[in-house]
Amino acid sequence: MAFPYQLKTPDAYHDAYRQSQKDPEAFWAGIASHFTWHKPWHSVVRSDFHTATHSWFEGGKLNITENCLDRYAASQPDTTAILWEPNNPAESTRTLTYRQLLDEVMLFANALKHRGICKGDRVCIYMGMVPELAIAVLACARIGAIHSVIFGGFSASSIADRVQDAGAKAIITCDGAFRGAKTIPLKSVVDDALQHCPTVQSVWVLRRTHEPVSMHNGRDYDWHSETEAMRATGNTHCHAESMDAEDPLFILYTSGSTGKPKGVVHTTAGYMLWAHYTFINVFQYQPGQIHFCTADIGWITGHSYILYGPLSAGATTLMFEGIPTWPDAGRFWDIVQKHNVDILYTAPTAIRSLMTFGTAPLQNKDLSSLKVLGTVGEPINAEAWHWYDREVGKGNAPIADTWWQTETGGIMISNLAGVTPAKPTFATLPLPGVFPVLVDENGKEIAGNGVSGNLCIQKPWPGIIRSTWGDHERCRQTYFSTYPGLYFTGDGCLRDEDGHYRITGRVDDVLSVSGHRIGTAEVENAINMHAGVVESAVVGFPHDIKGQGIYAYVICSSMPANETEMRQDILQTVSQVIGPIAKPDAIQFVSGLPKTRSGKIMRRILRKIAEGETQNLGDTTTLLDPGVVEEILRGKQA
Ligand code: PRX
Repeated sequence: MAFPYQLKTPDAYHDAYRQSQKDPEAFWAGIASHFTWHKPWHSVVRSDFHTATHSWFEGGKLNITENCLDRYAASQPDTTAILWEPNNPAESTRTLTYRQLLDEVMLFANALKHRGICKGDRVCIYMGMVPELAIAVLACARIGAIHSVIFGGFSASSIADRVQDAGAKAIITCDGAFRGAKTIPLKSVVDDALQHCPTVQSVWVLRRTHEPVSMHNGRDYDWHSETEAMRATGNTHCHAESMDAEDPLFILYTSGSTGKPKGVVHTTAGYMLWAHYTFINVFQYQPGQIHFCTADIGWITGHSYILYGPLSAGATTLMFEGIPTWPDAGRFWDIVQKHNVDILYTAPTAIRSLMTFGTAPLQNKDLSSLKVLGTVGEPINAEAWHWYDREVGKGNAPIADTWWQTETGGIMISNLAGVTPAKPTFATLPLPGVFPVLVDENGKEIAGNGVSGNLCIQKPWPGIIRSTWGDHERCRQTYFSTYPGLYFTGDGCLRDEDGHYRITGRVDDVLSVSGHRIGTAEVENAINMHAGVVESAVVGFPHDIKGQGIYAYVICSSMPANETEMRQDILQTVSQVIGPIAKPDAIQFVSGLPKTRSGKIMRRILRKIAEGETQNLGDTTTLLDPGVVEEILRGKQA
């Protein structure tokens, strides 16, 4: 399928940008008309930033799976939709054509329906990166159930929080998952979580590792037997539920500056359009190409650029079960060579970690199929950018540095690969429909070029966050109240003399650790659950591979006799409460924290100390007890 709205020249980009500003309704209606609708919309966009209510294509009815599957199952049934590369390279690749994927999705959708899952029900999905994860997500979308994928690295207690918050009726999981040399026992983690989740009526278990699991009679169903039962009874067709454009499609939990992750809600039509439009334009996807996004479907990048973006374009999306360093650090390059990957989309942290192995893993690997490279998740440092360009792209594959967030649904600021200029460490220019502004602390716009400020967006775009599940006020407060009339991203940003944007990192208490968002308050809550801990303060510090590392200052009820043991205990607690991704990289035991007279922790000082600063700690005169700082500095040096 050719895309008449693909922007192939700088002029086409600038024209589209102007059109999207001048007449957004006509601009987006034109693109939306290329999708399959059950009923046309009556209004393109309605939006009120003060109440945080936004709707796109109101009145329209559609199903996203018809746009991702049925239309391609009809026009190009034998094109591979999902190309799956297993964790272990000795195991065979699996492919699912558009026809086969549609059939599998319908079968599993029928199995879900058969056990009482209906439109509007919430279904949590906690699986490894197997094709059935994609099938599960799409089967939910087929019947109008709202999916909420939980990353396979989260702990039982994190699952329980999310399942309870969403009021989920079902969970889909695997017996276990393969990740590198490890096997992760997903089902038993789910079993632990479910002790606190009364809303869950059914659990679906796909066999992957074939390790024994406990199956609860009347609650747990075997994926294979249930789908086979559908096949045996001829229950193979499943009509696509007719969804309102603004019906929720999914909830995805993400960290913020408070202790509790929030369920970001995306709806059907606007999200679909945004994932699609950004996919074909940023990566300049051409029919027949193989797209390899290395993210996990548990994060928004996987939702938008492994599933909905590529599938809505009829592309072949490569799904990889394993990790970049197993069996060795050449795994990504083996995959690129084996499958002739055209587009590779990964994270700066993965690039930096592969850089530490030098260029040996790239030797004798044919990467000549690569046409476009992408990065996402955190600022990319110049060294990593040049390594990616030189060693992976061989100077021939443009790099799209894509800035966006869970809340934006899809890419917001990025060069269009090979069309608009790339600039190392810059996301460069906004996509059509995205109108960034920089503001100072008081919300005053900082106009002109060569300036820095807090990044906000001033008009609605189709993929804008619609709500936070169960608590709309939280959505309004978090994103739309700091600077009234604007969406606040939480990121700091520079606009250079050419008007190009460079994201400099979070300006709130959110860390980006290996490209994963983690709230400092969340980590503090987890540390404080340890019986021997009185209080803690968590800050980020620069980390060569992870981008940011987690540094925890901890006050114990009595100074630990064995610090190493206590550190291990705290790490264990954090792993259990959140998951291994939130484990601090450094823990310093202190007897007090720098606080103002009103009791507020001065994180600015703690951040500087964690960064290794000893002299210029800024103004400490407002501290209740300035002596605390001296003590912390002494402890750090020791
Ligand atoms: O700080 C920005 C950073 O990641 C945050 C969003 O995290 P999350 O919702 O988990 O989504 C990650 C994948 C879209 C942003 O607020 N970020 C994302 N992409 C970039 C980035 N920072 C700099 N450059 C990027 N390209």
